[in-house]
Amino acid sequence: MKKQIAVLPGDGIGPEVVKQAIKVLDAIAERYQFDFTYDYADIGAIAIDKTGNPLPDATLEACLNSDAILFGAIGDPKYDNDPSLKVRPEQGLLRMRKSLELYANIRPVTTYPTLLHLSPLKKEYVDNVDMVIYRELISGIYFGEKGRTEDPEGAYDVCSYQKTEIERIGRLAFEAAQKRRKKLTLVDKANVLETSRLWRHTIQEIAADYPDVSLDMMFVDNAAMQLIVAPNQFDVMVTSNLFGDILSDESSVLVGSLGLMPSASVGKNTSLFEPIHGSYPQAAGKNIANPCGAILSAAMMLDSFQQFEAGDRIRAAVKFLLEKGIGTQDLNPKKPQTCDYFGDLVAHLVHLEEDFGASSELDDQISTII
Ligand code: IPM
Ligand code: MN
Repeated sequence: MKKQIAVLPGDGIGPEVVKQAIKVLDAIAERYQFDFTYDYADIGAIAIDKTGNPLPDATLEACLNSDAILFGAIGDPKYDNDPSLKVRPEQGLLRMRKSLELYANIRPVTTYPTLLHLSPLKKEYVDNVDMVIYRELISGIYFGEKGRTEDPEGAYDVCSYQKTEIERIGRLAFEAAQKRRKKLTLVDKANVLETSRLWRHTIQEIAADYPDVSLDMMFVDNAAMQLIVAPNQFDVMVTSNLFGDILSDESSVLVGSLGLMPSASVGKNTSLFEPIHGSYPQAAGKNIANPCGAILSAAMMLDSFQQFEAGDRIRAAVKFLLEKGIGTQDLNPKKPQTCDYFGDLVAHLVHLEEDFGASSELDDQISTII
């Protein structure tokens, strides 16, 4: 298998975590005889510094010419506290999503038995959480008309949806549920919003094509609460852009660290893979960031190439290390490994001949590496 990957490290800790994901992809390529080429491009604050544009044409070109995109993070504090700035790093991300038609953002939320203590919630609430959020990514209030009223004291952001936009992500979510525990929850605010009523109508209509999936509908305020009090009731959740943004950050609290969570943004012609965390500028360059989100995003990329065994291999390696208490500062503050070293360990494991699941010889190997 031969694939060209556009690599957009971005800002803050983006470059450090992406480097680990590439390390792991290279180890996988060697093991399974894949041929990956990487095309690096700038996005976000670094692109503004170099070109004045958060999404230079060359970057979009690199994305369009590739089979998939690996993305780090964007954002820089120098842009955060001045609402009057016309050019902002986030515009690069939003324009890229729109230009590449990345309509579905998929965020798996899985808790690890050995890391339950990291969540501020009681263990019994977060044990056995295994869900995935399907967030609509290129419409809704994020992309509606926005502005100031003539009287500058007012402002507006319009939320609108087309049935086709709901249907395409709805079908993806139903298909995902069919392959999992066959339960789909639509999250909306249909008691107040007309767009939510369109979501309900559309999702209920296409449900007829997926008779094996049970469909549940929940208002977003209740869903925010249910995610905390009974998160393991969820299997697949589908929702609009803004609700998905908020609920996916909330769900990271169940897992215990934002640094553990990957995502895929699926488009018609290409897809993008990125950790859900931001640029974490305070940690940039210190080799302390958690690369799991980026590494697990690379695993989702392999799934998208239909290389499920390779994707599973990465997930198993990460799980293996986490279960041994090996992790960066956010996971194991008493004995933290560096970002770079964690990447080395995952690359080492995926490359090994053995099936490392239950091998005690491997335990010895690992303890000599650490
Ligand atoms: C995310 C981020 C972005 C969003 C920001 C950086 C624009 O929070 O990917 O969830 O709101 O979509
Ligand atoms: Mn967000």
